[in-house]
Amino acid sequence: MFETQQLKIHWQQIQHPILKAHQSELWVCQIEPPVSEIAGNKWLKLAPILSKRKPSQGILSFGGAFSNHLAALAAAGYFYQFPTIGLVRTDQLDLNNPTLQRCIEYGMQLEPINRMQFRQRDTIEFNQYLANTYPTYIVVPEGGSNQDGASGAAMLPLADTPAGEADILTVATASGGTLAGIIQRYPHKQALGLAVVKDQALISKVKACLPTKENFYHWQVFESDTPYGKVTPQLIEFCCALKPQLTIEPIYTGKALFKLFTLLAKGNIPKGKRIAFFHTGGLQGIAGLHYRKIITDKQFTLLKQI
Ligand SMILES: Cc1ncc(COP(=O)(O)O)c(C=O)c1O
Repeated sequence: MFETQQLKIHWQQIQHPILKAHQSELWVCQIEPPVSEIAGNKWLKLAPILSKRKPSQGILSFGGAFSNHLAALAAAGYFYQFPTIGLVRTDQLDLNNPTLQRCIEYGMQLEPINRMQFRQRDTIEFNQYLANTYPTYIVVPEGGSNQDGASGAAMLPLADTPAGEADILTVATASGGTLAGIIQRYPHKQALGLAVVKDQALISKVKACLPTKENFYHWQVFESDTPYGKVTPQLIEFCCALKPQLTIEPIYTGKALFKLFTLLAKGNIPKGKRIAFFHTGGLQGIAGLHYRKIITDKQFTLLKQI
């Protein structure tokens, strides 16, 4: 039921003056998941866990108040009929938040956990507490990034662009599982993670999602210039300007593409390459940006059109 090989893939070549100036080709890869609400990398990372789940088990996971991962997990629970719990990094649940509203509509049980508790989510003690409190739930880490999640991302044929094999594979990177999947599928290709978080542990997070018995040498993570969630007017403008060709948002895909173009402009990526970029989804988050007044009504109207 959760075969990732059967996925429909859409490719789109992007036109942009920076690409032209650097004689580079950029191909964006999007997947069409069986359930559209489980979009982008979320489908890939959740599919192996959904396959493993026993009928009596629910799934519990973590995320921020506007988490794409929790929204996708809630949709999975609704469409495949299993209970879900989302532990949300917040002091108080804001029930007007469009992401949380959507989670609730899909039947997810939401519980707030404060920042201090959230930081302890990977400790043995906290996981023991979760196992005791929710014995019938599989606990999935934040972002769905673990070796299972990465094995799902490894199903993506990201190098197979319609113009031929890509030289460089790129993706927005936060918790590391998607990049780890790309690395293990293409160990001999150059894989670039475009970080959207400032996290010194990101490299080790990617490594933790990779198979331990093999070594991988051809990958790199480019640091984010701004902290996670920081959206500058320039970044929003970039997303709006690309809109006639591609729908992106400024927290993940927009920020990563902006970084990619900056790297090309600075000469950090050699000229003449065919670059593939995985569109990891995240478009549900656009409503949350509007709700927080990070984007204007006009920008919202433009960006939300798919
Ligand atoms: C839309 C979107 N893109 C990219 C990422 C980053 O993927 P990963 O956490 O596997 O590095 C995420 C978070 O999972 C996301 O929601």
